[in-house]
Amino acid sequence: MQPPPHPSEVEPPCRRRDRDMDFTIRAATLEDCKDISRMIAELAEYEKVSDQVKITQRDLEQDGFSKNPFFHGIIAEVPEHHRSKDGHTKVGYSLYFYTYSSWKGRAVYMEDLYVMPEFRGKGIGKALMSKVAQLGLAAGCHQLNFAVLDWNKASLEFYLSQGCWDVTADMGYHCMRCEGDALEHLAQGDP
Ligand SMILES: CC(C)(COP(=O)(O)OP(=O)(O)OC[C@H]1O[C@@H](n2cnc3c(N)ncnc32)[C@H](O)[C@@H]1OP(=O)(O)O)[C@@H](O)C(=O)NCCC(=O)NCCS
Repeated sequence: MQPPPHPSEVEPPCRRRDRDMDFTIRAATLEDCKDISRMIAELAEYEKVSDQVKITQRDLEQDGFSKNPFFHGIIAEVPEHHRSKDGHTKVGYSLYFYTYSSWKGRAVYMEDLYVMPEFRGKGIGKALMSKVAQLGLAAGCHQLNFAVLDWNKASLEFYLSQGCWDVTADMGYHCMRCEGDALEHLAQGDP
């Protein structure tokens, strides 16, 4: 089986005119990192976890756009005449990477999905997620995984409306994490 494709290899940027908005979904480039960083901060603010964001534009440039990238990204862009109140034309994004399930094999993990408030309800979120699904299938993946905060009912409803199911509710999995000192201790074999 072929290695996972770069987002730009699957098909040319897709241009959509859904409802009253013309927009493009395309592969993210190094030059998008400033806007991705801005939208990561906006998403964290929406999720009430701004204090957790330590990533910088430079981290994104290094980790997403060097020889062996840790993540891939896609961008939703609108034409100049539809730019946001603050003058932005990059109005949504998704970051994703490939993982592996010992039950199902290749999988794609969608780390972030975000559309700026002014541009929601116009089909952009659906188009971004559809693109991640398309890229995952092209890479031979059998699953698209992601997490959503329990109080984020609007997004939970959005995901359910896209045919996704709640793994926590149905199988009882908890998301677990080890970081900071605990990670150092674990790596050093400390008790
Ligand atoms: C979730 C999010 C990405 C959806 O993007 P969007 O552009 O507003 O959604 P779309 O316009 O593409 O909606 C696509 C479909 O989902 C439906 N949908 C959207 N929000 C919905 C909701 N809250 N409940 C039910 N359905 C919903 C729409 O009706 C539409 O269905 P249709 O195609 O049959 O008309 C966007 O609202 C967002 O960025 N939210 C804040 C950040 C966030 O919570 N991200 C997810 C973190 S896990």
